[in-house]
Amino acid sequence: MAFPSVNPTTTEAWKKLQHHFEEIKHEHMVDLFAENLDREKQFSVTLEEVQLDYSKNRITQQTKDLLLQLAEECKLQEAIEAQFSGEKINKTEDRAVLHTKLRDFGEMKYSVKKVLRKMKRFSNHIIKGKWTGFSGKKITDVVNIGIGGSDLGPKMVTNALSYYKNHLNIHYISNVDGDHVQDILKKINLENTVFIIVSKSFTTQETMANANTIRQWFLQKATQLDIERHFVAVTANKKEAEGFGIYSENIFPMWDWVGGRFSLWSAVGLSTCCAIGYKNFEFLLQGAYKVDTHFKNAPFSENIPVLMALLSVWYANFFDFETEAVIPYSQYLHYFVDYLQQASMESNGKSTDRTGNPVTYQTGTIVWGSTGTNAQHAFMQLLHQGTKIAPVDFIGFNQSLFNNKLHHNLLMANFYAQSTALMKGTYKTDVANKYNFFTGNKPSNTILFKKLTPYTLGMLIAMYEHKIFVQGVIWNIFSYDQWGVELGKKMAKTILRK
Ligand code: F6P
Repeated sequence: MAFPSVNPTTTEAWKKLQHHFEEIKHEHMVDLFAENLDREKQFSVTLEEVQLDYSKNRITQQTKDLLLQLAEECKLQEAIEAQFSGEKINKTEDRAVLHTKLRDFGEMKYSVKKVLRKMKRFSNHIIKGKWTGFSGKKITDVVNIGIGGSDLGPKMVTNALSYYKNHLNIHYISNVDGDHVQDILKKINLENTVFIIVSKSFTTQETMANANTIRQWFLQKATQLDIERHFVAVTANKKEAEGFGIYSENIFPMWDWVGGRFSLWSAVGLSTCCAIGYKNFEFLLQGAYKVDTHFKNAPFSENIPVLMALLSVWYANFFDFETEAVIPYSQYLHYFVDYLQQASMESNGKSTDRTGNPVTYQTGTIVWGSTGTNAQHAFMQLLHQGTKIAPVDFIGFNQSLFNNKLHHNLLMANFYAQSTALMKGTYKTDVANKYNFFTGNKPSNTILFKKLTPYTLGMLIAMYEHKIFVQGVIWNIFSYDQWGVELGKKMAKTILRK
């Protein structure tokens, strides 16, 4: 199955959507709800522990049908099959895209199983105190040194699952800001710390600068031989890692068919695995796998990532909304938006299509956001009454983890209130004070899980991963390369040389 290339603007569906947009652009969602009492049911999908309610979007059944037609005309099914079959769909780097293989226990490659076993052994030894530092002390602190996908994914997951965490202190160093490095070094004792250098390329300037500084600091108090007990690496570049001084048994491999921003499921997640234990790490993979099978098999009309992506295309390309906000109602997810920004914007911030021509339409929406209810006291004013519209994904959980009902009721009341207020505004109500007027008709999705667990977090991340892929397919761009970050890197090197 060849990876297709279709300019979306040449499809029948695109033209029909343009026409349809003119017809419904002024329709108010309050009226759409009044006309159709089944609307919420009609525009909701449930998959095990998650429900996507997309009824508060500026769509009708006809919009949905036309968007599904667009997906078909852009040959989405063929694209999905091409990705899962291991075709080199990342053409500009001549690579397959198979992060889904990292969580498919039924069809797992031997090399992946082997790495998982190695992660299990390593994390168990660290957690149980069998792995000791050079002076015989048990490990209490783990420091992940990496940037971009080698930081954002594991950092987000470790923090999101801190309820499930053990006694280890996990730190993340990404920025080349030396003050941050020193600040972390101040907090740890080298005798009971393990450093995980995570870099697919093992050449990334920031990571190498941070790793070198930390090695020098280490060698002021310990010897070269002690490196074995304190430094491990996760990389696809074994040679460079060995050159740095990492013992070959301490190197966890990565593969070129796993992109950096999709790599938290691999040994890049080693810090997470240490934090929550291997069993929980496996639950994370299983949750993602559940969504993978749903994405591969569910009809597009009930396919969560496909629907999320099509709605995003509808707003980006027809309404000309440039941004999307993501607001998780869980403080545990405070790094989720940071993670998503790389996953989404590094993937779909492209302007050359898959035939090598400049695109003539919008791609890559700007993703931003923060946790609720904090967001309500920061930027929600603009969303409710400002002149710009940003569709919102509200992410919530039915149960709290510590079972504090009072707080959870408050949190979830706000979760529901925000999406309803954005949708209804003060439409058709008499508002005496002009400053209390709200147009409403502001779109949002609500993504509701039963509870935040490793499994449901795996589901959530995979939903967005596939959404990003579908957007890229429709926009006819290559989502899995990132040439756009190279120019700045080169210029920084030139400036350094001066
Ligand atoms: O930001 C560019 C990038 O190549 C990302 O795609 C990647 O996640 C990050 O740098 C880190 O790369 P590496 O893991 O090779 O150090």
